[in-house]
Amino acid sequence: MLICNVVGARPNFMKIGPVVLELKRRRMRQFLLHTGQHYDPNMSKIFFDQLGMPEPDIHLGVGSGSHARQTGRIMAAFEEVCQKRRPDLVIVGGDVNSTLAASLVAAKLQIPVAHVEAGLRSFDRTMPEEINRIATDLVSEFLFTTEESANKNLQREGISREKIHFVGNCMVDTLLKHVDVAVQGSPWHSFGVEPAGYALVTLHRPSNVDDPKILRQVMEAIIGVSKKAPVLFPIHPRTRERLRALKMKMGSSLKLCEPLPYLTFLGLMAKARFVLTDSGGIQEETTVLKVPCLTLRWNTERPVTIKSGTNRLVGTDMRKISESVDRILAGKWPSGKRPSLWDGKAAQRIVDIIREHLMC
Ligand code: UD1
Repeated sequence: MLICNVVGARPNFMKIGPVVLELKRRRMRQFLLHTGQHYDPNMSKIFFDQLGMPEPDIHLGVGSGSHARQTGRIMAAFEEVCQKRRPDLVIVGGDVNSTLAASLVAAKLQIPVAHVEAGLRSFDRTMPEEINRIATDLVSEFLFTTEESANKNLQREGISREKIHFVGNCMVDTLLKHVDVAVQGSPWHSFGVEPAGYALVTLHRPSNVDDPKILRQVMEAIIGVSKKAPVLFPIHPRTRERLRALKMKMGSSLKLCEPLPYLTFLGLMAKARFVLTDSGGIQEETTVLKVPCLTLRWNTERPVTIKSGTNRLVGTDMRKISESVDRILAGKWPSGKRPSLWDGKAAQRIVDIIREHLMC
């Protein structure tokens, strides 16, 4: 039995990493393929080093491009790999273009696909990730889910119950394994701030950064927040370009920096007073860390982070953001509770299931 694990973009590494390490621990035959969707060292290589993941066996080096070009390039190159190596199972994670591209190729070659983090739905098809999620789930044989809403979504879409496995959250496996070391590194020192004395911001969704008018509005809200608490803002490459063109005055309590390595970012997140983000994964990570999270979107595919956790949707509404920050600073924010099965053992459950099925 040969298993192919596919990664491509930054959030994939934390989700697929624990599965790769668990397969390795059980000496199951596998190889790791990196599509090259993300390629800057601080968007890719540093994660392999910090998470203790083996170097990819195959690197497709596809780089950036439009959705069609990027997806198409991955598909053509991945098809050749599958034809040559004939894996018995392809494991993909999350909702990026690499996830969709690899799933389509494998399914058409009749290689079963296992989707880690299946079933999440924002019900917003303007998000490229929503299309990637729906299409990947449709062609997958193993749908590994992180929360109850995902199980319901998949059943409603007609996916048979036997394919759906509620296993918990692999990204949380990675977080729990590394959080103590991340905090011991005291990454806040180099930014001149104190634990619980700063906010952390991330921003990269096309809907927030690609339109200069919306980006300006979001930035004005963030600048407003920085007048209440110092703000650290590691800037995603997509956002960096757009922000440069706006030529806005930021002020000294808004501290911009390059994208950060996993451990630095995790340490900062764990001790932040609150987080402002449009990322999907960070909504989950803040829930586990019990750090208040304001999501700069109008929807989320991860409703459990609102129902049980510390996450609230604030969109790009300046007033809502400002009021929420005031409530957090006044100590009026729920600390929430950790969702079911987010216990650091998701990868073990996944490998148990894969093993049982492949043996059969
Ligand atoms: C992708 C995912 C998104 C995920 C995000 C995490 C899709 C459709 N989107 O968005 O779901 O939340 O990754 O970061 O797959 N770039 C660099 N260096 C890199 C990578 C990208 O400079 O290493 C720049 C390029 O100009 C590129 C742009 O960032 O065109 C966007 O990269 P891309 O991978 O297309 O989308 P993301 O916005 O990163």
